[in-house]
Amino acid sequence: MQGLRDDVYRRPLATALERLGIGPGWTCADVGAGGGDVSVALAEIVGRDGRVYAVDSDPSSRDVVAEAAAAHSQVLAVTQAGEDLRLPEPVDLAFCRFLLMHVLDPLVVLSRMAGATRPGGWVVAQEPITSAGRIDGTPFSMPGARHPDVGALLPALVRDAGLDVVDAWAEAQAGAGPGPVAAYVETLSGVDPGDDPVILPPLVTVLGRVPGA
Ligand SMILES: C[S@@+](CC[C@H](N)C(=O)[O-])C[C@H]1O[C@@H](n2cnc3c(N)ncnc32)[C@H](O)[C@@H]1O
Repeated sequence: MQGLRDDVYRRPLATALERLGIGPGWTCADVGAGGGDVSVALAEIVGRDGRVYAVDSDPSSRDVVAEAAAAHSQVLAVTQAGEDLRLPEPVDLAFCRFLLMHVLDPLVVLSRMAGATRPGGWVVAQEPITSAGRIDGTPFSMPGARHPDVGALLPALVRDAGLDVVDAWAEAQAGAGPGPVAAYVETLSGVDPGDDPVILPPLVTVLGRVPGA
C-alpha cells in the first residue's frame, strides 16, 4: 500500500521537492509520516548532514518508519500529534501528505507546522480532492476521511496559517487497464477497475513560506 502510494504519487512529490531547491544538510519534518515513504525520500536528499523528523500520532508508525529508514540514521521517528507539534529545533521544511484530510482541524495542524519552521523556511502540504477523481466517470469517495476534499481549500488554509503562498498546483495520474493506477485503486477499494478509465484524486500541492527571513 505504502509502496503503491509512493509509486503513483511520486511525481507530485518530486515536482514539489525540485521547486523548493531542497539539498544536503536541510532539517525536515514529515508530519503524518505513516510508513515513511516521504521521510526516506527526504533523507536521501538531505544526506547524513541533514535530519528528518518522521512525526506520526500512531505509535505503531515508529516501528514501520524505523524499518523503512533502517539505512538512514538521519531519520528520527517521533510519536506526536500534528496538533501538538514540538520539535527540538526549528526545521527548514515541514511537510505533510494525505494528513490534513484526516485531522480534526487542518488549520490548527498547518499553524503548528508553520510554528515549527524557521523564518524563511518552507511548509509544504499535499492533499487530495478525493471527489475529483473518477473511475469510469464516477467520482471517488472516501467516507472514512474527515476532510476528503481538503485539497480544494488548501491554498487558503496555508495563507490563513500565516504563510506566504509561493506556489500551488494540482496533479493526478491517470490510466486504463493494468498498471500502477489500477493496482492502487484495487488496494484502496478492493475492486479491480479492469479496463475502466481511472483518474486518481488530484493532489493539490501548496508551497508556503514562513515570513520574516
Ligand atoms: C494516509 S496516511 C499518510 C502517510 C504518508 N504521509 C504518505 O503520504 O504516505 C496518514 C497518516 O497520518 C497519521 N495521522 C492522522 N492524524 C494525525 C495527527 N493528528 N497527527 C499526526 N499524525 C496523524 C496517521 O496515523 C497516518 O499514519
